Amino acid sequence: MKSVKLLAVVSTMVLASQVQAGDAQSGATKAAACVACHGNASFPGIFPIVQLAGRDADKLATKTNKYRTGKLISPMMNLAVMTMTDKDVEDVSAYYQSLGKPYMPMPGIRGDEDIQASAQ
Ligand code: HEC
Repeated sequence: MKSVKLLAVVSTMVLASQVQAGDAQSGATKAAACVACHGNASFPGIFPIVQLAGRDADKLATKTNKYRTGKLISPMMNLAVMTMTDKDVEDVSAYYQSLGKPYMPMPGIRGDEDIQASAQ
């Protein structure tokens, strides 16, 4: 009985740590490479149609992970996110969401239309 309780406590802790949001501050440092292409709050990036600033962190993480796992193919992106850890993805996504809005809003910015809530 005791071990069942312990198991319950441990799994609650594991679950709690999994839902923890990313750390936008360390994300800012980790996003240095992303910023060149995707911009930030003061630069649209060299691909302004895929500015990430202000977008929902969960959706950004889902999409970034699709490139990590090869579910989405884009040689540039697959290469760019190859070495990221789960934590890196959370942090960078939190950072981008924290920026509020893209530096250069434009009608053609790509969004999360193709992301299903349950998709990984
Ligand atoms: C060399 C340029 C380059 C770098 C560096 C780069 N990306 Fe990208 N990224 C792209 C391009 C181009 C696309 C669009 C790919 C496509 O549609 O095939 C894209 C797409 C994305 C998307 C999907 C956007 C959408 O909704 O369509 C996400 C999320 C993303 N990148 C995250 C990142 C993150 C996080 C980093 C940093 C670790 C990063 N990218 C670094 C070029 C880059």
